[in-house]
This record gives sequence, C-alpha cells and structure tokens, in this order.
Amino acid sequence: MSMPSPRPPHGAAPAAPEVTPGTGPDTTAGHGAAATRAPETPAAGLRFPPGFTWGAATSAYQVEGAAKEDGRGESIWDTFSRTPGRTRNGDTGDVAADHYHRYAEDLDLMRDIGLGSYRFSISWPRVQADGTGAPNQRGLDFYRRLVDGLHERGIAPMATLFHWDLPQALQDAGGWESRDVALRFADYAEIVFRALGDRVPVWLTVNEPKTVVQNGYLVGHHAPGRQDPAAAYLVAHHLLLAHGLAVAAHRAAGAGRIGPALNLHPCYPADDSPAAARAARIHDGYENRLYLDPVLTGRYPQDVLDDLGGDSRLARGIRDGDLAAIAAPVDLLAVQYYTPYYVTADGTTLPRWPTSQAAWQQIHPDGMYDILTRVTRDYGPVPLTVTENGLPTPDTLGADGTVDDAGRVSFLRDHLAAAHRAIADGVPLESYHVWSLLDNFEWDAGYDERWGLVHVDYQTQRRVLKRSAHWYRRVIAANGI
Ligand code: FCB
Repeated sequence: MSMPSPRPPHGAAPAAPEVTPGTGPDTTAGHGAAATRAPETPAAGLRFPPGFTWGAATSAYQVEGAAKEDGRGESIWDTFSRTPGRTRNGDTGDVAADHYHRYAEDLDLMRDIGLGSYRFSISWPRVQADGTGAPNQRGLDFYRRLVDGLHERGIAPMATLFHWDLPQALQDAGGWESRDVALRFADYAEIVFRALGDRVPVWLTVNEPKTVVQNGYLVGHHAPGRQDPAAAYLVAHHLLLAHGLAVAAHRAAGAGRIGPALNLHPCYPADDSPAAARAARIHDGYENRLYLDPVLTGRYPQDVLDDLGGDSRLARGIRDGDLAAIAAPVDLLAVQYYTPYYVTADGTTLPRWPTSQAAWQQIHPDGMYDILTRVTRDYGPVPLTVTENGLPTPDTLGADGTVDDAGRVSFLRDHLAAAHRAIADGVPLESYHVWSLLDNFEWDAGYDERWGLVHVDYQTQRRVLKRSAHWYRRVIAANGI
C-alpha cells in the first residue's frame, strides 16, 4: 500500500529551512508539471468580483475553552490532550482563547476587521454530551447567541458540524470505525439544523476527513491517537457517509446551503521520470481523489481501491446505497489549502519550498491556483469557498503594543493573488477565509504555533489585532489586494 505523507509529528525535523515568506524573488527551478508559473509576487491592484466574501475561521475545541461548562461532555480531544506526551507542553483546550465567554468581544473584533463571513464549528459534545439522545439546550443556546451576534454585526455565519471533537462516549463505542457513529452524526446534524437552520446560510459537514484518517489513524499524533492503516480507510468511509447523511438531513430541514470541507494538496512529481508521475498520481488518489470522487462523482477512485487491496476494510465496509448517500448533491465545496507535495518515484515526498514554523507546511502560493483550477477542471463548476488558508508565525507583542507579523501579510497576499488568478481563469470561487481569526490551540502543537490575525495573550486573554488584521481590513474594504 502506498502511504500518504501526513503531517509529521511535532518535534520532527523541519523539511526545509524556515523563512519569512514573500521576502525575495522566486528563483526556484521548474519541476515537472509545475514548471511554468507566473511570478508569485502580485502586482498591486487586483480586484475581486463584486460580492466576493471575506472571512476568517476558527473551530470549537481550538478557541472555546469552557470545557466543563453548561453540560458539555468530553470529547476525544479532551482525552487526548490530557494524556501526557500527546501535545506540546501538555497543552489542552480547557481554556484555549476563552471564546465561549469572550465571544461578544470577538464578534466586535470581527466587525472591526470588516469580515463578511465567520466560519466556526459546533461542538458535538456541547450539543449531546455523550453523542446521542436529547439535546443540551444550554449548548445550543451558546451557538444561538453567537449566530445572533454575527447577524447583528452584518457577518454571515458559516457553521461546521464536525471539526474533530468527537464525543468520547462515541469513541468508546468504536469511534469512526463504527458505522453507527455516522448514523449518530445524522441525528446530531438534525438537532442542530432544527435549532439554527433558519439563521445559518452555509453549513459545512465534516472538516478535513483526511486529517482524521491520516493524523488520527495512521500516524496517531491527533486524537484518537491510533496507528492502524487498515482501520484508517474504513474511518474515511464512515466520515464520508456521515457527510452524506448530514446533507440528506439538511435537505429535509430546508434552509441554507451545505457542503464538505476538504483539505486538498496538489501532488507534483518530484522529477520528470514516468515512475515519479505514477507515484504522484496514486499519492493524489490518497490525498485528494479518495474524498473528492465519492462526494462529487459517487465512486471511490479505482487506483486507490486497488492499492488498498480488494479485501481492505474500506472495500468490505461499503454497503449498498452508501455511495449514493455520499454523493448527495452539495451546494458548494469548501477547499482548505496549506501545502503541496512533491512525490518521488518510490512514493516518498521531498520538500521543495521553504517551510513555515509548521514543519509540514511548504509555502507555495501557486499550489492554491493549481488546486482550485484542478477541482473546477476535473469536477465541473461546483461553487467553491476557501475555508482555510494561513500559516503560523512566531508573533510577539512589541513594546509599542503592536504585533508585526509581516510574514503573514506576504503569505496571504501571495495566496490571494493565486486565488484571483484562479477566478480570472474561470474558477467559481465565492469566498475566502483566513485560518485563523484568533491565535488558538493548534492540536498536537498546542499554543506554540500562532495562526491568528488576532494575537491572544493566554495569561490575560487580551486580544490585539496583528499587522495582518489591519492589512486584511484594507483588503476587505478595497475588495482586493
Ligand atoms: C487545519 C485544521 C485547522 C487548523 C489548521 C492549521 O488542518 O482544519 O483546525 O489546525 O489546519
């Protein structure tokens, strides 16, 4: 079986030297399929189409804190982060950015920046402490307050139903290896649609199923911390089934639009050999087509099924009707782009570009163009939104009270130029969300990586808009860079 290359565990050696992005000309030689490119530094004055929406994203476990309040149950990330050795510095999301209590202040910050859309996630264990049964009204009330607060400030809510914080009780019952969890997810989705469906115009079902598969079940440095390749791809199937069942529940409930949130990675051959091209193709199968194909075409990619073997747990786990359920028509596809892969003939990956503070992230804005245009080319004109894009930078609060994250400004500008080019070439991209609004709990990397437009002092919970937030406000006001 060819193995994809999930993010290396924290503490792994960086793939390439870390730099501040965007500080020099692109002098890198061409590389196979990716050789001919426009320069990465944009000319100023790129206007986005009228109505293009600018946003920022967070997720529940990463920002909310209040882990034991108002009837919230335990999630697998509570268990995982409280297990010694699992996260950097033993960090947990117990308090995080305390957004559960400070959401009103955070809503004001969003308004100050000028956001048109805020993508957040709903914590399943706040809504159903054990993942089943009657809803916890206090949990739903929090999201109602949040959504109302967004509307009061003219910001469109975009809600993700599942951003990895599975109720621990469902993990104890088998987790995503159990088909039943997908059915429980549909019940949970129905509860949420009933409570908030009238106020949320865009829903996202499952965030990055691939990351659960790879980080949760192959490498094991995300919850639930397993290293079980056979289980991993059955988990993929059940996550996709959960997505499809939630889409069906949404259709029954009525309002708004819905789609999945997939992290996609362009997979380039590392050299010009036919063997590298073949290796890049199967790598692309595991990274992209394993998720795109079933959702958008109703089939799993045959090369991946063959590579896994006819007797794989995935193959055995597919029941009649599952693929039709997974392929329930979606209204939009949410794309999250962070890094490309360069695949050698033997199927390993090589770094080609400088990395950010996150060792797994190579900075390559053209990858954004490539992945957006590829989705449109291969899957047709499904409306696209970018729901995550960003990087961590080692931000500190200066003596003058400002945070100068120049690297984030360059990164965002270069990626937005690539998105603009994709739109000019016909990609129906309707909105863009920076990851993240706030510095937050970055999973196994804990609080060491700061991904926010807004700096959070975790001692005082004081928020300071970084230079990038001020820059983004101008981008939004101008509808362009
Ligand atoms: C994505 C996750 C998000 C955050 C960013 C950096 O994979 O969806 O929660 O961790 O990476």
